[in-house]
Amino acid sequence: MQIKAKVHYVGVNDRVKHRFEGLWFLPQGVSYNSYLINDDKAVALVDTVDVAFFGEYIDKIRAVLGDRPIDYLIINHMEPDHSGSLALIRKYYPGIRLVGNAKTIDMVKGFYHAACDTDLTVKEGDTLDLGHHCLRFHLTPMLHWPETMMTYDLTEQILFSGDAFGCFGALNGNVVDTQMDTSCYWSEMERYYAAILGNFGTPVQMGLKKLGALDIQMICSTHGPVWVDEIPRAIDTYRRFSAGETRPGLVICYGSMYGNTQRVAEAVAEGAAMAGQRRIIMHNLSVSQPSFVLADVFRYGSLAIGGPTYNGGLFPVVEDLLKRLAARNVSRHRLGFFGGFTWSGQAVKQIAAYNEKMKMEVVGHPLEWKQAPDADVLQRARELGRLLSV
Ligand code: FEO
Repeated sequence: MQIKAKVHYVGVNDRVKHRFEGLWFLPQGVSYNSYLINDDKAVALVDTVDVAFFGEYIDKIRAVLGDRPIDYLIINHMEPDHSGSLALIRKYYPGIRLVGNAKTIDMVKGFYHAACDTDLTVKEGDTLDLGHHCLRFHLTPMLHWPETMMTYDLTEQILFSGDAFGCFGALNGNVVDTQMDTSCYWSEMERYYAAILGNFGTPVQMGLKKLGALDIQMICSTHGPVWVDEIPRAIDTYRRFSAGETRPGLVICYGSMYGNTQRVAEAVAEGAAMAGQRRIIMHNLSVSQPSFVLADVFRYGSLAIGGPTYNGGLFPVVEDLLKRLAARNVSRHRLGFFGGFTWSGQAVKQIAAYNEKMKMEVVGHPLEWKQAPDADVLQRARELGRLLSV
């Protein structure tokens, strides 16, 4: 599929995988985007696809090139959803030169034992002339791996951005945002960010700063649509999430074995509703999938977390969320928390201990009760909901 005169989309859709990286659910699938620049002097392939799709992938490349060889494989990112076909591409095109920075080439050796003396190691600002297109390389370490870089086409102002500005969601026929209804991709972009890039807010901010000086007319990321009309919205989504910027709203995350903590969570929601909070999202952490919970936490500024004491510690699904939040350095939220116990209270203490690292602003008093919540506990839960909504 041609997206510019000499630039073709040769990516594939994965509608089979249940969990991306073995972790994150994919209700709308995911695309692995790869781009072929069929230029006058040379041909360059930008990133590859998951090796499970190699048959379809090589057919797409050959449909564009026929028997013309590929001169360069530019590797913006080595995670195997993009580098997976690298070794087979090298077999099909033995003369191909891999293009990456020193860390990339090191990973090519480690993952695929497929580096060659002819490979091209590039540094920040190096360029590669293909004829009409002239490509420049920008290193964006830890966005979200150490070797990540972006490739900027100086001729047509195209940014090949790797995972940045990507999203979950397979592509349904069209590839470029000007040709499709993009509404299904925005929440998937937020979920993708929270799950995959959420730990790397500072490198994302540094990457955005570096890109700020570029005139960008098209963003070709490795997942989801090619952005043309919606470039400002895609960049703004990454800017907001990486800066920890949230919107008004309360996310209530809880775990509950027999419904007692759930009753308290419901009372927190009622208190928030009575205070006029219109955006209240509840996640039973035994049911909600983590990436959906994380996306909501990244979206909204108030957070309530509750769970029972379990085996002398915190209920596992609640602890799992706290670990994920701590890893993502979630710190700019307002936090209220609550927890019950049967004979020895640990839940509330442990939520407080996690927050010592994150340093969210604690709202109200942590709410703790023994066994089933009584009317007083439920009233205090409503008050917590109210405080989280003002
Ligand atoms: Fe889409 Fe970090 O790989």
